[in-house]
Amino acid sequence: VTAAGRVAVIVAAAGRGERLGPGAPKALRELGGVPLLVHAVRAMAGAASVDVVVVVVPADEVGPVRILLDAEATSRAELLVVAGGDSRRSSVRCGLAALPVDVDVVLVHDAARPLAPGALADAVAQAVRAGADAVVPGLPLADTVKAVDGAEFVTSTPDRATLRAVQTPQGFARSVLQAAHDAATDDAATDDAGLVERNGGRVLVVAGSGEAFKVTRPIDLVLAEAVLARRRADAHG
Ligand code: CTP
Ligand code: MG
Repeated sequence: VTAAGRVAVIVAAAGRGERLGPGAPKALRELGGVPLLVHAVRAMAGAASVDVVVVVVPADEVGPVRILLDAEATSRAELLVVAGGDSRRSSVRCGLAALPVDVDVVLVHDAARPLAPGALADAVAQAVRAGADAVVPGLPLADTVKAVDGAEFVTSTPDRATLRAVQTPQGFARSVLQAAHDAATDDAATDDAGLVERNGGRVLVVAGSGEAFKVTRPIDLVLAEAVLARRRADAHG
């Protein structure tokens, strides 16, 4: 992708957040008094390379989220809010369907990674512009990983040095992501790059960020609150 089309970020925020426990949809839970999805949208819309942000939310939250984000509209990026689906894959598809025609690079980001820096989106978009079909941020693993069988017996231990824990935003040439989604028939792939791999595409890993971790369980919110508090303290010198 070398033509000068626009860069869009699809922010997937239509999940229920079951592993976080009872309460509002995860993307609307608060971190430092601000909903997770607002943190994610601020970071992505504030990234220098990002022109369009499409936020995908539960169907009954489209109106409220539009109002919430209208109050935010300080960045130059165009903001769209659309309804998602029952799976992450179907939600991303809803985001793809809403993209303006002149978008040629698409990033897909989890609202559940509220502290992923805008600079990470810029690095991913740049790698797509430089010629990669698909780009994912990734980090080396701290833990050793085991493969197990149905009875929890270990079947193998992959060499940790060859593994990366991958994050979002993940970036794609628009046509590559669209083709991968069109070809997908199940939810076996847990990220968009997985769909591209299954469709025969080549995926490049670039350096991830320690702050792009996913809020999945309650303890992740504790870490996120601590990271945010440190940022606020740094900002106030
Ligand atoms: N997501 C989505 N649409 C869905 C399911 C998930 O847009 N139908 C989004 C979530 O909002 C989240 C991201 O995909 O930002 C990553 O998913 P995950 O961490 O699994 O979030 P949830 O599905 O909300 O959480 P859980 O699986 O614990 O219910
Ligand atoms: Mg989920």
